[in-house]
Amino acid sequence: MSSTAYAEGLAGKVIGFSQIGSESGWRAAETSVTKAEAERLGVDLKFADAQQKQENQIKALRGFIAQGVDAILIAPVVSTGWEEVLTEAKDAEIPVVLLDRGIDAPEDLYLTSVASDQVKEGRVAGEWLVSTVGDRECKVVELQGTVGSSPAINRKQGFEEGIASASNISIIRSQTGDFTRSKGKEVMEGFLKAEGGGAGICAVYAHNDDMAVGAIQAIKDAGLKPGSDILVVSIDAVPDIFAAMVSGEANATVELTPNMAGPAFAALDAYLNAGTVPEKFIITESKLYTPADDPQGEYDRRKGLGY
Ligand code: AHR
Repeated sequence: MSSTAYAEGLAGKVIGFSQIGSESGWRAAETSVTKAEAERLGVDLKFADAQQKQENQIKALRGFIAQGVDAILIAPVVSTGWEEVLTEAKDAEIPVVLLDRGIDAPEDLYLTSVASDQVKEGRVAGEWLVSTVGDRECKVVELQGTVGSSPAINRKQGFEEGIASASNISIIRSQTGDFTRSKGKEVMEGFLKAEGGGAGICAVYAHNDDMAVGAIQAIKDAGLKPGSDILVVSIDAVPDIFAAMVSGEANATVELTPNMAGPAFAALDAYLNAGTVPEKFIITESKLYTPADDPQGEYDRRKGLGY
């Protein structure tokens, strides 16, 4: 069905949402956008915060199945280990929509996946660095996301692809910062120490903005200038990274929309009310932002949207 208004046919439906947790500003934005959209549409959203644990997500899904919800949304913390519980949802004829992260499981176990092309995000970041540093030698330190999560795996791969043509750019250190600001800072402090204070580091590539913001603090504490002594490139495009761009402390970010729920609710409306099967992968945009793109305006716009 194509509703006259977006997803209006979901009013009164009960939808379970298993969220990863609140590790980043982006995650908080996704949660608030999803709740707001559900309220606007009259969806009875059952929200479960897994506090970064897959076992909590599996438990939440089993609870939703036992309640007989109309559909399930899940942002899967890691990519493996989902087959059993998704088979249970399938047997109960409850459609599951994956939000923002992918999984290694047969595609018939979920209705659709709403996510970005995470390899592309990394590639866009890497290509930005190649065009920014030109021929000069550039040693990069990398802050990876949560181990075993699809964005950490794919953004690493994409960045490596993006810099592959530039023999002057190399990744000299790479470690997980778990997508959090505090771990991003802690790991960056370790990188700076291990690299004799950091003077030889040309750039930090962080798999999300929160880790970049933590790294920026560590760079400043080490007496260096983020944004000039050490370039900072990351992914998400949350307000705080635009604030850092306004201060000259961040150089580029790749946008990940927190509005995964919009396409997910539209797909569920069409499926539940008209049996229309959506495309298996609904891919969101990956736009690059730099200080040339009115960072103050982007900051204000996102704050205005409640991010
Ligand atoms: O899965 C999306 C990633 O998860 C976001 O880039 C990051 O901020 C979040 O924690």
